[in-house]
Amino acid sequence: MNHIVYMSRAVRPLSDQDLKELLDQCRRDNALHEVTGILFYSHGHIAQLIEGEPSIIDPLYEKIAADGRHSHVMQLANKPISARSFSDWSMAFHPLEAEGFKTLEGFFLPHQVPQTPETLTIADALIVDLVRQAVFGPQQDTLV
Ligand SMILES: Cc1cc2nc3c(=O)[nH]c(=O)nc-3n(C[C@H](O)[C@H](O)[C@H](O)COP(=O)(O)O)c2cc1C
Repeated sequence: MNHIVYMSRAVRPLSDQDLKELLDQCRRDNALHEVTGILFYSHGHIAQLIEGEPSIIDPLYEKIAADGRHSHVMQLANKPISARSFSDWSMAFHPLEAEGFKTLEGFFLPHQVPQTPETLTIADALIVDLVRQAVFGPQQDTLV
């Protein structure tokens, strides 16, 4: 089992509807392929961690990297992990209209994202914390 972490920039800001569609589509497709992980989005900044078998996530990463919705895709990690750190696939972002999102499965507000799992090595946890900070800024934990 491997994980891949990357960062990118949205080509244009993603609307609530864009994000919701991406969440729905990814939850469905990733569950089919036993891919888990999390995507962070804020003001055009994107970071994502995907975990699964290399035979699945390497081609998935190629497909994601070629997706016209984002650019400047930079891979930060692609390496074996001893266990999954995420039980399914989820996304964290600030919707413009919070109402419809409260009950959406797999959705977190940035400050609700669970602590970086202890299943990650210290080096991997550092990468996840750094990309999270790069997307949401350093104040996310104190925002309500
Ligand atoms: C930021 C971003 C993250 C994405 N993450 C995933 C993902 O985790 N899983 C997935 O199946 N598709 C993901 N996609 C969508 C893929 O790029 C692609 O559109 C989708 O897999 C459909 O491909 P297909 O038309 O070849 O079936 C993501 C797209 C973007 C822009």
